[in-house]
Amino acid sequence: MQFIIPTPLLAALMALPMAPGALARPSSCKANLVAPRAIYTISNDQQNAVVAMPVQADGMVGKATTSTATGGIGANGIDGSTNQPSAPDALFSQSALTVAGKMLFAVNAGSNTVSMFAIDAADPTKLTMVGKPAAVPGEFPTTVAASDKHKMVCVGTTGAKAGVACAPFSAAAGGIGPMDALRPFDLGQSTPPVGPTNTVSHVFFSRDQQTLFTTVKGDPTKNNTGFLARFAVVAADAGGGCDGGAATVAQKGAKASPAGTAVLFGAATIPGSQDLFATDASFGAAVLSVQNDGHAVAVKGKGVVDGQKATCWATVSPATKSAFVTDVGTNRLVEMSVANARVMGQVDLSANGDPGMIDVMAGGNFIYALSPGNGSTPTAITVVNAREKTQVQHFQIGPAGKNSMGLAMVV
Ligand SMILES: *[C@@H]1O[C@H](CO)[C@@H](O)[C@H](O)[C@H]1NC(C)=O
Ligand SMILES: *[C@@H]1O[C@H](CO)[C@@H](O)[C@H](O)[C@H]1NC(C)=O
Repeated sequence: MQFIIPTPLLAALMALPMAPGALARPSSCKANLVAPRAIYTISNDQQNAVVAMPVQADGMVGKATTSTATGGIGANGIDGSTNQPSAPDALFSQSALTVAGKMLFAVNAGSNTVSMFAIDAADPTKLTMVGKPAAVPGEFPTTVAASDKHKMVCVGTTGAKAGVACAPFSAAAGGIGPMDALRPFDLGQSTPPVGPTNTVSHVFFSRDQQTLFTTVKGDPTKNNTGFLARFAVVAADAGGGCDGGAATVAQKGAKASPAGTAVLFGAATIPGSQDLFATDASFGAAVLSVQNDGHAVAVKGKGVVDGQKATCWATVSPATKSAFVTDVGTNRLVEMSVANARVMGQVDLSANGDPGMIDVMAGGNFIYALSPGNGSTPTAITVVNAREKTQVQHFQIGPAGKNSMGLAMVV
């Protein structure tokens, strides 16, 4: 079979170093997605640290784990059912750390700060702190979003001062700039918060980075409804036409409680769509459609996960174009449709001995999920082939324990 390749593209292809025979691969075969180069979590201990793990070209996590202090303090929320520090799921959140471009950001829940690191281009497990941890104008930061396009970082806090605040960042200008005013959420929480219900879950940007979203869990036992908040990003050059000034996030947003949802937790944007895939710890997950006019958020579909304890973390796989969710109390991955949240299948991981998993992230052909353990089981990353639905690795993370939280990657 002959391929006709436009000359400029051909020239570009020829310029790339390529394995012999690479061009001969039939185009109809499944794209061989590139594995992440490294994955990260935070220890969330008293001396908080980012734990970085290299990922090999075959998608497996490599051994050369490094630990880099954040200069801040980790913390645990209080588990409302036991009145004890919560672990696993110390922060009741998704995205305790995040990567934007060549920068990594991590929350320090116990010292009300967020730390910024530069990721080394040659060795992405090598992190260098940029500036000092930046003070957040709320209490108990648990979730962070960053926009490479707007050079902006936004942090969700869920203690006595709960809400979202944002700041510009610049490696050249020494790190994270001053945080703007907190966009408050009236949760009536304490510091540390009592959860997991009635807490901020996840801050994240839309695919086009024009909207900042925050999921907030309600508390069905207190007639307290959770919601999805959204705030418009105001581009740097909006209105004035002058090219100075950084992008900002609107102080006033819109809140919606999508019908039938109660405890919205982790979310994922969906490639090629403006819809959101969001878990709800009270039943499973939903696909939400944000209406451009008005304040409504429509529910396109709800998926009830049978036997779930708390379906809280979500990712969308580029390999399968489906969502995968985890449950801190059930050791399995559940695959769901990004069209309507229908349950498509599950990967039973009980054989590896972990009690359950929290943060989850799709990278290349694989799903990476964090099990902080419970003190007696080790902290581990389970790697699952997204297409074949099989565990391919169970990697024990030496420098992280049951307080660990969050997963991020660099590709
Ligand atoms: C619960 O909230 C709904 C809606 O705000 C209200 O109509 C209802 O009276 C509340 N129920 C209780 C027991 O507070
Ligand atoms: C930790 O999890 C394992 C596996 O589910 C379980 O057997 C063990 O009892 C748990 N330990 C604690 C302290 O909860």
